[in-house]
Amino acid sequence: MHAGRVVAVGPPDAEIREIQELVKQATGSSQPNSRAGSRNASVVDLSTVADGTEVVAGPTKKSAAISEGGGGGGGSSKITKEEERSRGAAKLATYLFYLRAAGGLPFATAFMLVLGLYSSMDPLQSLALKHWMDEMAGDGATKPEALLACGSYTLAATGLIAVTMVRNIILPYASVAASKKLHGGMVRSVMHATVSWYEATPLGRILNRFSGDISKIDQSIASQFKDVVVFAFNLVGIALVCSLGTGDPKAQIVVLSAVALATICSWLVYSIYRVVAREQKRLESVTKSPLLAFFAELVQGAAVVRAFGEQQRIIEILDARVDNANRTLYNLEGQTNQWLRVTMNLIGSLVTASVVAAVLWQREDLGGGDAGLTLSYSTQFVGAVNAFLTFKSMLEISMNDVERVGEYTKGLPAEAYEADPHAPSPPKEWPSAGAIDFRDVRLKYPTASTPVFEALSFSVPARTRVGVVGRTGAGKSSLAVALFRTVELSAGSIVIDGIDVRRLSLQQLRSCLSIIQQEPTLFQGTVRYNLAPVTEHADAELWDALRRSGLDAKVEAMSGGLDASISEGGSNLSAGERQLLCMARAMLRRRPILVMDEATASVDHVTDTHIQQMVKRDFKGNCTVITIAHRLHTVAFYDRILLLGGGKVQEFDTPLRLLTTSNSSFRKLAEESGDYESLLQAAKEAEE
Ligand SMILES: Nc1ncnc2c1ncn2[C@@H]1O[C@H](COP(=O)(O)OP(=O)(O)O)[C@@H](O)[C@H]1O
Ligand SMILES: [Mg+2]
Repeated sequence: MHAGRVVAVGPPDAEIREIQELVKQATGSSQPNSRAGSRNASVVDLSTVADGTEVVAGPTKKSAAISEGGGGGGGSSKITKEEERSRGAAKLATYLFYLRAAGGLPFATAFMLVLGLYSSMDPLQSLALKHWMDEMAGDGATKPEALLACGSYTLAATGLIAVTMVRNIILPYASVAASKKLHGGMVRSVMHATVSWYEATPLGRILNRFSGDISKIDQSIASQFKDVVVFAFNLVGIALVCSLGTGDPKAQIVVLSAVALATICSWLVYSIYRVVAREQKRLESVTKSPLLAFFAELVQGAAVVRAFGEQQRIIEILDARVDNANRTLYNLEGQTNQWLRVTMNLIGSLVTASVVAAVLWQREDLGGGDAGLTLSYSTQFVGAVNAFLTFKSMLEISMNDVERVGEYTKGLPAEAYEADPHAPSPPKEWPSAGAIDFRDVRLKYPTASTPVFEALSFSVPARTRVGVVGRTGAGKSSLAVALFRTVELSAGSIVIDGIDVRRLSLQQLRSCLSIIQQEPTLFQGTVRYNLAPVTEHADAELWDALRRSGLDAKVEAMSGGLDASISEGGSNLSAGERQLLCMARAMLRRRPILVMDEATASVDHVTDTHIQQMVKRDFKGNCTVITIAHRLHTVAFYDRILLLGGGKVQEFDTPLRLLTTSNSSFRKLAEESGDYESLLQAAKEAEE
């Protein structure tokens, strides 16, 4: 096909010449001797390596790691760890963690003061009212005492309004401050977590902490905190009013014993309730993660599901998971909480009945006002115990969310993002040249049982281009992993321009490196944003980078030019165009070291050639290029070839020397690809 039209149709043999012609036209004259027809052959199957043994297609990283974990370690056979489900009541540390986030000691003091005032205002108001009514009895309405009582009642009422207002201002502020701080802390620690943590943690689980847990903290914790404290104060206030209000010691004893009985019964019921509710709440959080994870994956793979006509099965799975998640919620809301309410009300009515009986028995000695106050407060007391215990249990349950956020704020394995403060910082002009030294590098993935590199040593001179080849699993990508410190070395060192990279912060290290991976990374946004996400560049500079990567015509054709929009992951560009855009970005960044990891594996031959020409032209002599390649043609003109095998350097020399050495493994590889002549030609041209 060419330009969207079918050019030729037929069996391969008959059409091969025509295709050759076409590709030759498209590649231009830069590689006159590359026999385009043999490009299939030059896509070397690197599973046949130097030693000639045939290896079945290597396992992918993940599955390899999984089987390795199972076979080698004898331990758990999964990378993904079970989600921790902490048991028991939330710890005091969790409460303190939240209070600290909400504003620490100043906030806690103001909070208790305001709520203490708020809770005492209500009984005070009732007492003032009773006092006023007593003074007004008979013809006392105009007595100065009555006016004073009226004044104190008004004062109590106004005070209540003022304190309520202050409370309603403090609470939302503290709640927002706490959520911001918890969320921010979690973002920071998740963003700096090690790659192996990401491998072991499903996306849904992370999403759940950022969405479900944070939203529950947003919505409920501050007000539950408030309710618990208010009702605790209320209990004390009510008990005081009841006993003071009756006056008679016998009646006081009756009231206080009713209060004690209610407290004990409620406490018993509540202790049963909270064990069940807490576990149900935890179950709810844990059953939600698989649902969210599945949904996130489903959204990504919706096209695949449709293509295979598996909608029905997926809907059933999704339904089952929704049911599972809702079942625990229903058990908690619909059954456990309801049981608590009914039982508590039962206790309440029993206690009220006994208080009524006591008042009737004492009717000779009790005044009407006292009897009314005692009765109304005794019923309130049970309600207050009930409310206090309920809110306390709710707060305890909600504290789980804080605990889970806390785990992600403090407990994650972090990359060494900051530099060692005691190490001297690198000189200003570092890194100037981009010379890389691997010295006895030992690298072991945390999930693997054996190291990828035992003692890998080689030196890349400054401003050279090195092609890395080797069979799948030889450790090529792990070179980049070691260089970027995605996984820290367990021994040895990597030195860039005389500085051991371990001395640097990841920020410093990674800002001198560029990488282009097999899967190009593009962001939703404009072309401009994708070219330079963090730095400012003049339009002319951007266009220059686009022109050199051969994308200028394409971008001109897009509506908006540099401001044309790029969809998520660059899905409105072809794979090759995405790759070229990443190249243009790398050119703009102008870092002294560029790593390409099979960057051209998924693009066609023409784009590959184009990219390689760019490396030849634009990166020659001004930056160190390390290209991990699986087509030998990609690296035939490079300054050095690094042949890796089993985590060791097998050969490291110029392509020409390797190709002309009779027992070289690289030469063997070239010969097996059936493209030896043209590779040799390319290597010769490069040396001239
Ligand atoms: N994240 C990982 N966790 C555990 N083992 C890994 C991981 N990535 C790669 N490996 C292992 O390291 C070895 C080298 O892998 P890699 O460097 O990706 O090879 P290449 O890029 O040459 O195909 C393989 O045996 C692979 O199974
Ligand atoms: Mg690889």
